[in-house]
Amino acid sequence: MGCVKIKLAVAIVSLMLLFPDSQGWGEDGHAIICKIAQPRLSKAAAEAVGNLLPPSAGNDLSSVCSWADHVKFIFPWSAALHFIDTPDSLCSYQYNRDCKDENGVQGRCVTGAINNYTSQLLSYGGDKTRYNLTQALQFLSHFMGDIHQPLHVGFTSDKGGNTINVHWYTRKQNLHHVWDANIIETAEERFYDSNIDGFVNAIQQNITKEWADQVQQWEACSSDKPSCPDIYATESIKAACQYAYKGVTENSVLGDDYFLSRLPEVNLRLAQGGVRLAAALNRIFS
Ligand SMILES: *[C@@H]1O[C@H](CO)[C@@H](O)[C@H](O)[C@H]1NC(C)=O
Ligand SMILES: *[C@@H]1O[C@H](CO)[C@@H](O)[C@H](O)[C@H]1NC(C)=O
Ligand SMILES: *[C@@H]1O[C@H](CO)[C@@H](O)[C@H](O)[C@H]1NC(C)=O
Repeated sequence: MGCVKIKLAVAIVSLMLLFPDSQGWGEDGHAIICKIAQPRLSKAAAEAVGNLLPPSAGNDLSSVCSWADHVKFIFPWSAALHFIDTPDSLCSYQYNRDCKDENGVQGRCVTGAINNYTSQLLSYGGDKTRYNLTQALQFLSHFMGDIHQPLHVGFTSDKGGNTINVHWYTRKQNLHHVWDANIIETAEERFYDSNIDGFVNAIQQNITKEWADQVQQWEACSSDKPSCPDIYATESIKAACQYAYKGVTENSVLGDDYFLSRLPEVNLRLAQGGVRLAAALNRIFS
């Protein structure tokens, strides 16, 4: 019995290592973005979010911001909505060219999904909507995070860095996962006593000081749209080229040099994701 249990445990752990969560900031990245967003909500938006959140969330938006990753298997149609594949080495994004799933269906990518769930949420308060707006809120909060992870708008042939094997310090990893989780986790361990709220506070301080004169521009959006995902996607593929892919080849060892020079970009993208999620919800529910 004991032996079978151990074998089963080994099998499960091996499977987890083979298929690490490879889409979306990790749990912490998504939670950080939602923790930055929630206190920035207007009264009307905070009330709508409070009404839409499931009771189990206890009015904490960050507790549902990884939900979309957990339902990828029960909603297989949603898997394509977390990212965008762009042409190799071009370092550019165009909605008409790039926003499609692997079968070529237009609009099925993270920018299309943000537009989709934004317009669903705009029906809030009307007569019985045909959408589940709790799910729409949970998807939108997640995808506004994903679109700010530079490698969620990555090259097609390496699947946004998923097929590039590297070492994160001494551990085997893939480049996509380094940007989803490892940079954030290492920052939490090294600078914030492994405390996510310490990290959130530090980012919030910079939003009010270092970045104060940029925040309005982050929130700005052409033609009164609630959010401008095409702009965020363009920024991400540029950052992917400038920071994530730069200097990395198969089996690169990424240590302090890489960590310390890329962390400021991760901090910036988490801040922008949080600010823009709040701005979008404020416009949607205004
Ligand atoms: C839009 O949302 C609906 C409801 O969740 C979903 O069935 C559809 O696949 C979504 N499409 C996109 C492009 O997000
Ligand atoms: C809407 O979605 C939530 C989250 O998946 C689910 O718990 C709830 O039952 C759904 N509501 C309806 C009316 O289907
Ligand atoms: C905040 O800004 C300071 C000064 O630019 C920088 O040293 C620090 O790393 C930043 N922290 C975060 C979490 O953005």
